Amino acid sequence: MEITRVGVVGLGTMGAGIAEVFAAADLDVVGVEYSQELLDAGRERLRRSTVRAERRGRLSAADGDALLGRVSFSLAFDDLADRDLVVEAVSERLDLKREIFGRLDQIVAPDGVLATNTSSLSVTEIAATTGRPARVVGMHFFNPAQVQQLVEVVRTVSTDADVVDGVVALARRLGKHPVVVGDRAGFIANALLFGYLNRAVSMYETGHVSREDVDTAVRLGCGYPMGPLELLDLIGLDTANQILATMYRQTGDRSYVAAPLLGRFVTAGRLGRKTGRGFYTYEAPGSGRRVDDGLTPTARRDGHRVRRVGLLGSGDRVRAVAAVLDVAGVEVGRDHAGADCDLVVAAASGVRVIELAVAAERPASVVGMNVPAPGAELVEVVRTVESDDAAVAAAAALCTAAGRTPVVCGDRAGLVVDALLFPYLNDAVRMVESGYADVDGVDAAMTLGCALPKGPFQVLDETGLDVALAKQWRVYDEVREPGLVPAPLLAELVTAGRGFRTTG
Ligand SMILES: NC(=O)c1ccc[n+]([C@@H]2O[C@H](COP(=O)([O-])OP(=O)(O)OC[C@H]3O[C@@H](n4cnc5c(N)ncnc54)[C@H](O)[C@@H]3O)[C@@H](O)[C@H]2O)c1
Repeated sequence: MEITRVGVVGLGTMGAGIAEVFAAADLDVVGVEYSQELLDAGRERLRRSTVRAERRGRLSAADGDALLGRVSFSLAFDDLADRDLVVEAVSERLDLKREIFGRLDQIVAPDGVLATNTSSLSVTEIAATTGRPARVVGMHFFNPAQVQQLVEVVRTVSTDADVVDGVVALARRLGKHPVVVGDRAGFIANALLFGYLNRAVSMYETGHVSREDVDTAVRLGCGYPMGPLELLDLIGLDTANQILATMYRQTGDRSYVAAPLLGRFVTAGRLGRKTGRGFYTYEAPGSGRRVDDGLTPTARRDGHRVRRVGLLGSGDRVRAVAAVLDVAGVEVGRDHAGADCDLVVAAASGVRVIELAVAAERPASVVGMNVPAPGAELVEVVRTVESDDAAVAAAAALCTAAGRTPVVCGDRAGLVVDALLFPYLNDAVRMVESGYADVDGVDAAMTLGCALPKGPFQVLDETGLDVALAKQWRVYDEVREPGLVPAPLLAELVTAGRGFRTTG
């Protein structure tokens, strides 16, 4: 199947990017919009993007002109009649997409392929409006399409194998990394990403951690380029809310029930960067530059002056905490919580901090500390129900004095980093266990589609499956949420003594 003439319906954020990617690969492109205004906006989006590429030296001025010359703009669907492939990229609404596919089916030559860029709707339901479901696929690009390498090629039960092969070959020709997936809500990347994002919103909504601290914890603790709430502001809270709703409808999985706060923000018109306000406040609508608002923390309050710290706990975790206190220049008394200590720090590792605090008989002065990896910049500072504010502030100030970055959170299993990371890894295992995707496909989707530094299976193999299993049990045990039950495959591999790509 040869694809040389393509069409794009909808030249919004994604459509304009997709048209550019096609034109950059020498394809002849027709872009269609609904009104002159939208068409002009789409043309302008494309022009600005090529100018940006020229400025960054990724494109010469002549190549930029040639690229734009390969795209024609139209208000008439009839201009799509001779296209080998048409990609639809209009708003995420099933009724709208079905109406468009019905029209395309009448206009595009019978052997033409119709593709949708939907993030969460059922490709099968969209295909069912046409008389050619065998020639309908999902072609899910990521934002920005010019940059992100992943394309999820969605095959429904009706899609012909040659159509899938043709679209995969096309994606490679575009310089992309195609991963073929079945038609399930959220495909690979969004199914894994949105469960995690939703859990992060709940953490913030329930007061477990502040918005700044959850974002910092994920950036430093997992090495992700963005924290979950800043990423949601970028995606758009309305879009996120809609994707979660669709995913819940299709799966019945409670982890996709959108955290109530998301809906409240949408009702209030706080949609993220695009409206200038979401979790954070921005300089102007559309700007990525954050400005302070009423929730921005002022400089951390200095706690009381600390000279001597009692340190509780055992094992590697306590050594990592001791190293922080050492650099902070305080005297440390091990296994000691006497009245001569100004502060008591419990190395939080598995045991709830409150248990140590109560045993120490002066719970108000006890806070937890966790250094996720030896020498890590991040330190999770744990406030129990008894900790007084001055003790928490003093512990955070010690971390800062030691050149580390503290985040403050409640005393819950997994604190912030583990409570977000391990359920996501567990979801990835369940996805592979269900036969929906393989280990390489999932790792590629998460690194190339979501710009994560490592795929979940690489992380699992490096962490050790036994460690991951134990941590996931701890997170599950505390809340008994069915969606958090450790995947049986994880336990099986631990018993067998092997990892996903490793043995022993
Ligand atoms: N934004 C992302 O990060 C992202 C990533 C991957 C896939 N997607 C998917 O791509 C598709 C488009 O998303 P987007 O972010 O580019 O949206 P967008 O809002 O930037 O553009 C939407 C386009 O939809 C059309 N449209 C809107 N309302 C319409 C109406 N009432 N009637 C007819 N046409 C209408 C217009 O052509 C508009 O250009 C969606 O299916 C979305 O799920 C989005």
